[in-house]
Amino acid sequence: MRIILAADYQDMSRRAAGLIAAQVAQKPTSLLGLATGSSPLGIYRQLVAWHREEGLDFSRCRTVNLDEYVGLTPDSPQSYAYFMQQNLFDHVNLDPRNLHIPQGDCADPLEECRRYDRLLTQLGPIDLQLLGIGLNGHIGFNEPGESLNADTHCVALSQSTMDANARFFDPGQQMPTHAYTMGLGAIMTAKRVLLIASGAAKADILREMICGKVTTAVPASLLQLHRNVTVVADREALSRLPAELLE
Ligand code: F6R
Repeated sequence: MRIILAADYQDMSRRAAGLIAAQVAQKPTSLLGLATGSSPLGIYRQLVAWHREEGLDFSRCRTVNLDEYVGLTPDSPQSYAYFMQQNLFDHVNLDPRNLHIPQGDCADPLEECRRYDRLLTQLGPIDLQLLGIGLNGHIGFNEPGESLNADTHCVALSQSTMDANARFFDPGQQMPTHAYTMGLGAIMTAKRVLLIASGAAKADILREMICGKVTTAVPASLLQLHRNVTVVADREALSRLPAELLE
């Protein structure tokens, strides 16, 4: 695992965006696995800036997002589809036909999971998968548990995840309790994984992910078994890691 120490959130975002831009330049038809949440916002801002100022070209790229809340329509401001539109898709030259996210308001949840897996098989493998990490070690919404699922599935969000993500919902608004998530199979078969983390709150879980046991109790620890993982994290998030591991 390659671990890149960034000075702060902005530096983390710029370095991680640089790796994505290099991937797109090297393979213009790249299949990019994308994440939502607060961690990737700076990356998306940087990619938009490079698209506008330097002509970074996404026209032939394809994207698959990790997850979506069950029950939310794509135009709901809390949906991940909406997040992606607002923060990336509306501002770069990705072809709308090439953008894929599990459909939160689908009529048949099981069929939606199968559809997404068929799509991942047809388009995949993912060239570069961007990941954040939950405070409990989740990646996508693959939550800690007795077992992990290789396939796209519908998951009951853990209390830790509900608490962490409540900030994105208005007070009094009902937060979804379930989400669709890509499984560990598609993540682990991605050619390259880029995991980002920022802030002191992520320090303990980042150490467990990198230095702890490989366990379903910390889904991100499975990435120790992946052959091409780059972690880009800021000083605070890496504060509990031995200095000799850092680049
Ligand atoms: C979101 C996702 C989640 C987040 C994680 C960290 O698509 O897959 O695993 O990456 O919950 O969220 P933030 O970045 O908000 O701390």
